[in-house]
Amino acid sequence: MPTAKSAEISVFKRRESEARSYCRSFDKVFTSAAGSELTDSRGRSYIDFLAGCSSLNYGHNDPDMKQALIDHIASDGLAHGLDLHTDTKAAFLEAFDTHILNPRGMDHKVMFTGPTGANAVEAAMKLARKVTGRTNIIAFTNGFHGVTLGALAATGNGYHRGGAGITLQGVTRMPYDGYFGEATDSADFLEAMLTDSSSGIDAPAAILLETVQGEGGLNAASPEWLRRVADLARDHGALLIVDDIQAGCGRTGPFFSFEEMDIMPDIVTMAKSVSGFGLPMSLVLVRPEFDVFGPAEHNGTFRGNTHAFVTARVSIEKFWSDPGFAKDISHKASLLTDALQGVADLVPGATLKGRGMMQGVDVGSGDLAADICARAFQKGLIIETSGNEDQVVKVLAPLTTPETLFRKGLNILLDAARDATLGTKIAAE
Ligand SMILES: Cc1ncc(COP(=O)(O)O)c(C=O)c1O
Repeated sequence: MPTAKSAEISVFKRRESEARSYCRSFDKVFTSAAGSELTDSRGRSYIDFLAGCSSLNYGHNDPDMKQALIDHIASDGLAHGLDLHTDTKAAFLEAFDTHILNPRGMDHKVMFTGPTGANAVEAAMKLARKVTGRTNIIAFTNGFHGVTLGALAATGNGYHRGGAGITLQGVTRMPYDGYFGEATDSADFLEAMLTDSSSGIDAPAAILLETVQGEGGLNAASPEWLRRVADLARDHGALLIVDDIQAGCGRTGPFFSFEEMDIMPDIVTMAKSVSGFGLPMSLVLVRPEFDVFGPAEHNGTFRGNTHAFVTARVSIEKFWSDPGFAKDISHKASLLTDALQGVADLVPGATLKGRGMMQGVDVGSGDLAADICARAFQKGLIIETSGNEDQVVKVLAPLTTPETLFRKGLNILLDAARDATLGTKIAAE
């Protein structure tokens, strides 16, 4: 006899492709969500420390974004507008200009791409190639930039690359900051390779990097390393592309993850939380002198997700017109560091990773990290792993999580880690 639960779940197993992934770890049917909590079909709530993989930095169903969207739909506002001029796109651009670009002295143009992060990366890579007339792009070990062919060539992960079914081209891999341990500065290696005309590296069109590698294990580049890489890009005629798809929109504290690093990218890719509400939306910021695509040269039917423009505008005006928001993120980030130290103390050799509200613990083994996350889920917390062996337990809570709920989630994580480490010891004895 199928139980109610198995009947509910069976349609996914029967009909949904094997390519499904997160739902395998969180095998429930979710029916509603508000703030930093999701509720399943049995009425059980879960604290969300995954936040749509950083697509829900402002939580689920923010009431102001929701109301603005309802009003827009109720008044027959456009749902789809290709890239036509619309009132909602104008309002978003004005808000983005006023609260994000202008205060940071950025004169970058805003290019809307197809609504996935990968599409923004595709556009950025193509643009850098067009600007420079070069083909090679330097990307880094453990970088993750999406899984469409151009972006996948820049992604390091072997499992994802294996899905390409074709030779991935046009990218040279270099070691990210810390890849060879603390004693070796991988920027020295990059410099040597770029400077030696016989190193075998073709002159790059761009250097593409994440300042904190979201999927690659929360490796956080130091400001010094980032500055050296930015200088190397400039000295060698390459554009600097910062992929801020996961680390942007306040995830590391300030709006852009490269703020406070004293670098200014030529191109920035953004997606995930840019709509504020979890709606598909991506964009590429480009220094005006590099804004060289002709009309529709990188086109796409869904470059004008008008609903996303509505919520994106509210997210900018609500959270980024006030410097207090970044301060609050930084306060929560320090709570997070303290709590994660408690988890790390349970596992010999464990290390803290990441920065801001993008931190985790490298527990040294994918099995242990998966066990901790599975136990956390049983206790009502949704949390995932990252890293080349999935060995990093990664906290991506909404930035707006109330402190009491945040602490509750962190306590669940600590309990789960305690149980898992105890379980590991028992199994080993
Ligand atoms: C840094 C980074 N770039 C690009 C992507 C790809 O975005 P999407 O999955 O929307 O294509 C991701 C997704 O996790 C990402 O973290």
